[in-house]
Amino acid sequence: MKNTFYVTTPIYYPSGRFHIGTAYTTVLADTMKRYHILKGQDSYMLTGTDEHGQKIEEKAKEAGETPKEYVDKMAKMAKELWHKMDISYDDFIQTTEERHEVVVQKIFDRFMEQGDIYKGEYEGWYCVPCETFFTQTQLVDGKCPDCGRDVKLMKEEAYFFNMKKYADRLLQYYEEHPDFIKPEYRKNEMINNFIKPGLEDLCVTRTSFDWGIKVLKDPKHVIYVWVDALTNYITALGYLSEDDTLFKKYWPADLQIVGKDIARFHLIYWPIFLMALDLPLPKTILVHNWITMKDGKMSKSKGNVIYPESLIERYGLDAVRYFLLREMPVGQDGIFSPEAFVERYNYDLCNDLSNLLNRTVSMVNKYFDGIITGYNGTPNLVDEELEKYAIEQIEAFEGKWQNYEIANAIQEIWNLVARTNKYIDETMPWTLAKEEKTEELKSVMYHLIENLRKIAIMIKPFMNETADNILHQIGIENNEQKVWNSLQEYDKIQNIKVIEKGQPIFMRLNVADEVEYIKGLMKK
Ligand code: ME8
Ligand code: MG
Repeated sequence: MKNTFYVTTPIYYPSGRFHIGTAYTTVLADTMKRYHILKGQDSYMLTGTDEHGQKIEEKAKEAGETPKEYVDKMAKMAKELWHKMDISYDDFIQTTEERHEVVVQKIFDRFMEQGDIYKGEYEGWYCVPCETFFTQTQLVDGKCPDCGRDVKLMKEEAYFFNMKKYADRLLQYYEEHPDFIKPEYRKNEMINNFIKPGLEDLCVTRTSFDWGIKVLKDPKHVIYVWVDALTNYITALGYLSEDDTLFKKYWPADLQIVGKDIARFHLIYWPIFLMALDLPLPKTILVHNWITMKDGKMSKSKGNVIYPESLIERYGLDAVRYFLLREMPVGQDGIFSPEAFVERYNYDLCNDLSNLLNRTVSMVNKYFDGIITGYNGTPNLVDEELEKYAIEQIEAFEGKWQNYEIANAIQEIWNLVARTNKYIDETMPWTLAKEEKTEELKSVMYHLIENLRKIAIMIKPFMNETADNILHQIGIENNEQKVWNSLQEYDKIQNIKVIEKGQPIFMRLNVADEVEYIKGLMKK
């Protein structure tokens, strides 16, 4: 197994502020990276901005700026948001950077030389916001099938990529690589909706606008969207450049994360481009669904948009990251509602997690002056049952996580939180204390701390600060007790000293007030 993990998110159309939906992809990528780092693996994360095309040209004009000024501002905004969201990307690529543009030109040239790209004439229905041509039959009620807006009939000289040539190879690849597409039903969608009916060749250049990378041998054409945007995943690593060390080290990507709206481009065109370049394909492409609102898609006109910054400001980053990952079911849209957000906060984070920590820290202080030493490592029956349960949950977590069923995996952690809370009720430490059963009481405290340690390690990839806070409060300072491969272990901690005065990590919210507050945010 190669000991690196390369994860990417799609680069963004800089089309305004990023709402919590668009932040989902990047939070998930960051979480995956952090998980692999905790496991001691070298991990590299790429993100960036997608900066060419007619839409940008138009937006820049509206703003009275050059396109480059405009996209640089957007990239800066994106970086600021990722900073606030503690996204630990290793590289951020802008597609207007020279390191990208020159390589895209080389790639395009190679496609032309190989005969993968040919000149023709394009006539089709074009959706400007989506930057996509559609055939008559793809339109829905004469409108864009993706966004429902008006399309224009356009005709122009254009270059095409011969997709048909690769269709069989792609099908065979799908067949032979069951992990290539997650969740699996997306594969069938691609086969039935696009490949079996006959892949259409893809228009890869435009002449009707300028803001794009020019075709070297025919500069009135600019390369439009996909050969430009998709190749960022390899140009960022230095593919076809003087220094391709990173490319050699990290390609093929282990995981590429994309939203459902761009599934087709990543599951069909991207693998075909890679085949045409004789490059290996990413190990897995994970397609996630959307965060929507109760009344459907988030949109400014509906006044139902939620921005991550405003939620973070009031509830903290970890609550927002938790909610995003926890509320997106596999293969279905996740719904954001103020009620659901407050409920998760109050139940999962405050009642379950925060209280478990508080009860534990205060009991260790009360019964043992904050210090546990000389635990003899012989658990009684209830303890053994708890240990067994914890180990099972950790395994269940790993299984789901590695299959990229993130929300389900997180549920497994909270099962352990709930079980550990229940363990307090079962063992009744207050009675053990009264009856002076010191060894048993010690064992209970020991197990509570152990489980909190395990929980903290498992939530660390997506709730970094909370995890550190828990570990600090229960007095875990040794790095070896903070790493992933210490999860399976009990009996490793000899001397425990919890902090004297525990601090609640999440405080109960007033439901009515906060629901109102969040509704107010949506109108801004
Ligand atoms: O698609 N919930 O950029 P983008 C979850 N530049 N994910 C969402 C979402 C929502 N409500 N809305 C958007 C682009 N996303 C192109 C990609 S690829 C080389 C070029 C996801 O800003 C979306 O599916 O429109 C995509 O994965 C990402 O956010 C960026 O979307
Ligand atoms: Mg989009």
